[in-house]
Amino acid sequence: MLDPLFSPYKIKNLPLKNRFALAPMTRKQSPGGIPTATVAEYYRRRAAGGVGLIITEGTLPEHSLAAHDTNIPRIAEDTVEGWRLVLDGIRPTGTKTFVQIWHQGPKARPGIGATSIEEEGGTVVEEAVGESKQELFDAFVKGSVLAKKTGFDGIELHGAHGYLLDSFLRAGQVDFVCDLVCEVRRQVGAGYPICIRFSQWGVGDFDARQFHSPQDMENVLLPLKDAGIDIFHASTRRFWLPEFDDSDLNLGGWTRKITDAPTMTVGNIGLVTRELFGDGPESIHELMRRYNNGEFDMVAIGRPLISDPDWCQKVRDGEQDRIVGYTDETKNTYP
Ligand SMILES: Cc1cc2nc3c(=O)[nH]c(=O)nc-3n(C[C@H](O)[C@H](O)[C@H](O)COP(=O)(O)O)c2cc1C
Repeated sequence: MLDPLFSPYKIKNLPLKNRFALAPMTRKQSPGGIPTATVAEYYRRRAAGGVGLIITEGTLPEHSLAAHDTNIPRIAEDTVEGWRLVLDGIRPTGTKTFVQIWHQGPKARPGIGATSIEEEGGTVVEEAVGESKQELFDAFVKGSVLAKKTGFDGIELHGAHGYLLDSFLRAGQVDFVCDLVCEVRRQVGAGYPICIRFSQWGVGDFDARQFHSPQDMENVLLPLKDAGIDIFHASTRRFWLPEFDDSDLNLGGWTRKITDAPTMTVGNIGLVTRELFGDGPESIHELMRRYNNGEFDMVAIGRPLISDPDWCQKVRDGEQDRIVGYTDETKNTYP
C-alpha cells in the first residue's frame, strides 16, 4: 500500500530514491559545533536504512545569538571537514542530504528577533533592525553558500516553530525572509534546491497559529515561492488533523493546493507501529488517502528513525514486527 511513497522523486533536478525524509532533529552531539565521526555514523546508519533524503538536525549559521549550546553543529569554515565526513558516509547509499539552517532567534536567551521581548523588566530579546538585521541576513546567506560548497545537496531554511525566520513571518515581515531567499538563490544558482520549513505551532506553544485561513497562508507562501523556494516542509504534530474548518486538508494539503509546489508533510507518522498498521487516523490508510488526494509529495519521519535507523526498509519490506519502536528506552538511541 505504501509503494507509491517508495517511488523515486525529484526536487528540481535532484533525484531521490524515494519520498521518505529523515526529519531534522537536534541531537547535540557536536562539541564546539563540529560534527564528529559518531555524528557521521548516526547519519550513515539512517541513510543505509533507506530514507531518500536526510535533513540534518538544525545547524547554526555564524551569528553570536544563533544558540547558546555549543554541542549543536554549526555551518562554518571550521566545520566543513566534519560535515564532509558525514556526507562521505551518506553518499554511497544514494541518499541525498539537506542541511537545516537554524537560528533560534527569540527562543534563545539572550536572543534577537523580529520584535523585542521584555521579561522581568529587562530586554531579553533584542529587536533586529538596521545593522543587526543585516547581520542576520548575511549569516543565513553565508551559511547557505557554504552548505553548497561543503557538498550538501540542498538546504532547508528553518522558518518554523517560533525561531528566528518564523518570528519575521509572524511579525508580518515576510519581505525579510523573501529577500533572504532571493539572495540565497542568486548566490547558490538556479538549480540548487532550497526548502523552507514553516509551522503553525511554536516551541513552548503548541496551540500557536499564524494562519487563520487559507488566505493567510497564501500571503506568506506565494511570495516565498516567487522568491525561489522549491519545496515547502509543512511542520505539523499530527499529519491527520485538518487545518481549517470546512475541509479535511492538512497543513501540507493546503500548502500543495495554494502553491502547487512540492510539499512535505510530517507529524506522528508511524510513531506507534501498531497504529500505523491499524485502521485509525494514524494509519497508512489515512496517510495514503491524503497522498493519493495530492496533499503532499514527500513525508518526513522523525522519532521512529531515532529508535530504528532501518525503519524505512522494514516498512517497505513488510517487516513491521521487527521495528524498534520509539519508547522511553529507545528515544536516546545514538548513533
Ligand atoms: C529530539 C528532537 C529534536 C528535534 N529537532 C528539530 C530541529 O532541529 N529542527 C526542526 O525543524 N524540528 C526539530 N524537531 C521536530 C521534528 O523534526 C519533527 O517535526 C517532529 O518530531 C514530529 O515528527 P515525528 O512525529 O515523526 O517525530 C525535533 C524533534 C525531536 C523529537
